[in-house]
Amino acid sequence: MSTQPVVGELDKIATDARRRIESAPDKETLEELRVELLGKKGVVTGALRGVGVLPADQRAAAGARANAVKTEIDQQLVARQRALEQNRLEGLADSEWVDVTFIPDGAATRGHLHPLTQAQREITAIFSRLGYQVALGPEVEDDYHNFQALNIPEGHPARDEWDSFYLTQGGWLLRTHTSPVQIRFMEAHPPPIRIIAPGPVYRHEATDAGHESQFHQVEGLLVDEDVRMSDLVGTIEYFSRSMFGADRRIRITGDHFPFTEPSIGAAVSCGICKGAGCSSCKGGWLEIMGAGMVHPQVLRNGGIDPERYSGFAFGMGLDRIAMLKYNIADIRRLRENDVRFLEQF
Ligand code: DAH
Repeated sequence: MSTQPVVGELDKIATDARRRIESAPDKETLEELRVELLGKKGVVTGALRGVGVLPADQRAAAGARANAVKTEIDQQLVARQRALEQNRLEGLADSEWVDVTFIPDGAATRGHLHPLTQAQREITAIFSRLGYQVALGPEVEDDYHNFQALNIPEGHPARDEWDSFYLTQGGWLLRTHTSPVQIRFMEAHPPPIRIIAPGPVYRHEATDAGHESQFHQVEGLLVDEDVRMSDLVGTIEYFSRSMFGADRRIRITGDHFPFTEPSIGAAVSCGICKGAGCSSCKGGWLEIMGAGMVHPQVLRNGGIDPERYSGFAFGMGLDRIAMLKYNIADIRRLRENDVRFLEQF
């Protein structure tokens, strides 16, 4: 036997292998080729074995050629493998993408803001147009800011109206209204002041269609030189018309709050009966807020000189405003998060 057939065979194997490796379409085909060529029963392995039976003087040359072919094929397999991987990565943007806007028919619908959030944003927008900024305060308050600084000393009968939840330590309580934000803001800012303070408040109260132990208020405070009751009434009127419609009228009545003097209550004419009186209003009117001129002592408690400055304040229940705006009969619906209810707004 001469070397020629073995060497010729190896050349043919090498040429054939190169062509097939270069055109292998995927990893699986490459792996099959590797087994077919270099595996235990592979052609190259077979040829290498054939070298062993050659005459001794030819073995070296044929062996060298066979090993070279093996190395060549090995390198080609690795190169092709890399090229295939590179192609796969480059094609990923086309082969693997997700349409995040895809909605399977009937499986999901677009949501919207909760009616309370909608109402709060609308109130904020209306007062922003009047130059008010939003101020926030803590929901866990101390007795001083929630009561004393607002002219409600310990033992004052008005505390019955604002029964609270107390923390077991440090005399802290869950704020019963947003009025303490008035004090906190005045303590930190000199006049002129124009703020609204929206947020959650808490009352130790039984729950019914009109009451919840947790609800939301929006407080307002304006302090400047020469502020009068007529400014307050004009502001309430502007707010009410912007919020409920231009055809609404407002009614101002006397009221009492320890932190305002004089104090008033504001009601808006009922949108359903137009003020004639119906089952959803009290004689044609719906109460929307308590308000008044800031008591001189409250200004003093906030570090402001009542001889120079005056101001007005108001506080409204956000839940109540949302109920009026959207004709919701039961406050508890606003807290249940029943989608069938919420999707109506
Ligand atoms: N804080 C009062 C309450 O929770 C509401 C209120 C009334 C706020 C009159 C005011 C105000 O600022 O002037 O019932």
